[in-house]
Amino acid sequence: MGSESEQGRKANEEEEDIVCLDESFFINDDYQLTTFTFGSNVIELYCLQSASTDFDLTGQLVWPGAMLMNGYLSENAEILQGCSVLELGSGVGITGVLCSKFCRKVILTDHNDEVLKILNKNIDLYEHSSGPNPSAELEAAKLEWGNSDHLGEILKKHKDGFDLILGADIYILIFQQSSVPLLFDSAEQLLRIREPGNCKFILAYVSRAKQMDSAILREGAQHGMLMNEVPGTRCTVGNLEGVIFEIALK
Ligand SMILES: C[S@@+](CC[C@H](N)C(=O)[O-])C[C@H]1O[C@@H](n2cnc3c(N)ncnc32)[C@H](O)[C@@H]1O
Repeated sequence: MGSESEQGRKANEEEEDIVCLDESFFINDDYQLTTFTFGSNVIELYCLQSASTDFDLTGQLVWPGAMLMNGYLSENAEILQGCSVLELGSGVGITGVLCSKFCRKVILTDHNDEVLKILNKNIDLYEHSSGPNPSAELEAAKLEWGNSDHLGEILKKHKDGFDLILGADIYILIFQQSSVPLLFDSAEQLLRIREPGNCKFILAYVSRAKQMDSAILREGAQHGMLMNEVPGTRCTVGNLEGVIFEIALK
């Protein structure tokens, strides 16, 4: 048996051998300033160029559904004019930022704290580059689908609800199927704040699995929603089939 001081020295040496890796070591935040063009609308923002291996960090880059949504909105910008909008699963914020060029209020939401960091950075970037509608209210908020505390916080500040709820590419992975009902719960609560017909949910859907295609139609019906495919929007985006749905309460 060694002396107490020798044991102490060994313990110190062992402690020095332990390499501490905090969470940030595993997170890729090498965002690149990237330019996207939708018709006459040019948007510059920070994003990753390829997905992280962590499925919960999908929001660090721009997805095909956002390209589909932004193409559709920029061709039909009259539907945004003067509106209040809440976006679900905003990621880096490309859709919300486009909306803020036309809308009076845009709330961009996401559940992932790392994603919320880059989302806030992109909002600052956009506000400092003073776009054509600098008077639009643009803010990020934490909203995990199905979390009534998060939704309650948002609704405390925005009691009248929103004209439009938007979602681009917000359920991509078959093993995330359990979040689909929660997504529709939150969307339904947001739609119900207004009288029927005064709020609609626009969804840019990209098909990656047949199971998911039927899951979203089933969930919509179970939540009392009419899911109308917008004519002429079915197209190929990033080698996949995409479509815009306009959703309202029955
Ligand atoms: C595939 S990304 C799409 C991001 C962006 N809309 C786009 O199209 O580029 C899905 C987004 O939904 C968010 N998300 C996933 N599950 C969520 C949940 N349960 N609650 C809230 N946001 C969620 C992710 O953090 C991510 O930002």
